Amino acid sequence: MLKCLKTLSWLAVVLLLCQHAQLLADIEKGEQLYRQCQGCHSIGPDAPNGFGPQLNGVFERDAGSVAGYDYSPAFEKTVGQGLRWNNTSMDEFLEAPMDSIRGTRMAFPGVKNADDRKELIEYLKHIGLDGELPLTKKVKAIRKKAQAKISPLPAETLIPQHGVLHLGRAALDEEILAWDIDIRPDGAGLPEGSGSVVDGTELYDNACAACHGIFGEGSGRWPVLAGGQGTLTEERPEKTIGSYWPYLSTVFDYVRRAMPFGNARSLSDDDVYAITAYLLFLNDLVEEDFVLSSENFNSVRLPNEANFIADNRQQEMPAADAAEPCMSNCLPQPARVTQRARILDVTPDSNDDESDTVAIE
Ligand code: HEC
Ligand code: HEC
Repeated sequence: MLKCLKTLSWLAVVLLLCQHAQLLADIEKGEQLYRQCQGCHSIGPDAPNGFGPQLNGVFERDAGSVAGYDYSPAFEKTVGQGLRWNNTSMDEFLEAPMDSIRGTRMAFPGVKNADDRKELIEYLKHIGLDGELPLTKKVKAIRKKAQAKISPLPAETLIPQHGVLHLGRAALDEEILAWDIDIRPDGAGLPEGSGSVVDGTELYDNACAACHGIFGEGSGRWPVLAGGQGTLTEERPEKTIGSYWPYLSTVFDYVRRAMPFGNARSLSDDDVYAITAYLLFLNDLVEEDFVLSSENFNSVRLPNEANFIADNRQQEMPAADAAEPCMSNCLPQPARVTQRARILDVTPDSNDDESDTVAIE
């Protein structure tokens, strides 16, 4: 009997440990998922309100109760009718905020995956009113590791010795690298790497589909990314990557620089290759076994490229010497006022004869 009891308590401990590990894993994933909310919300000690209210201790306080935040009338009405945050109400809200509370200012299509919502809720639930996540040893260790990767600036770069005012410092090579990420139509600036349509499908469904639709058709009023071929001459052209954009480099550059909205620069270069490949697939420009890489990037052409023509205005102005354009003191004589804006007719209903918008020669 005693032995049996012992076994039972062992089982209970193992079960508890498993549950705890599961909970930790959920919170960790939830913290990752929360990144898509960061464009509008903040969490942490003294977190300020942004476009949305700060979310410290959102489960511990009443819905719609952040001081100094101006909730929408629709949201306040729902709170007035007894909205409280618990697992069920939060799950329903996060799935489709704009359907759950019609007229809410939270212009966010929602988190469609139920597991994702569960993990997000687990994370939000553990954030205290002070904005802290009570850290377990494991989470602390992970954080420490992540922080160790960011090497501190060398001391001499902090107190500049140069110049008269001792202001500023030369940018570090790493800083220039991080900032210099533009990619040109000829592929100059592309990082090494590759990604397949198959990998892109999963990445896209997780990070982009909530706003841009499963097939790039756009969810609600978010931008459409695929289709629209042949509509450019219609009264309401549908301008997408496939129907309108001239260069694939713009897709890569834009996604890497700015998406997912609210969590920009979170994708690895290979992720961006994969998502770009998938966007090509959604636009019927490649097959599903396609792999995009720094090597074959330039061989992909977008259908509308030829309709973009080079800007040749410089040739239309004979004074501008293309080889060495004049940048200062370009007029042989001092500038002279030749017309007033009123006469040029660019300022409607202006009675001021001394209008200072002038044309010069
Ligand atoms: C586009 C901006 C935006 C994004 C992205 C966004 N929210 Fe919101 N959120 C808002 C706004 C604005 C409100 C206030 C709603 C109102 O007044 O109608 C709000 C309200 C809330 C509330 C209610 C807070 C309270 O005080 O009762 C919760 C909870 C919430 N958001 C969670 C989330 C989560 C979780 C995510 C990410 C999955 C998210 N939001 C993404 C803008 C956003
Ligand atoms: C929270 C919503 C949201 C998510 C998630 C999101 N986007 Fe966007 N996306 C936007 C918005 C808003 C714009 C328009 C931004 C603007 O015009 O300033 C946009 C614009 C774009 C555009 C340009 C469309 C055009 O025709 O101008 C591309 C391409 C794009 N997103 C790709 C992606 C990809 C790829 C992902 C996933 C890695 C992603 N987006 C995730 C909201 C989102």
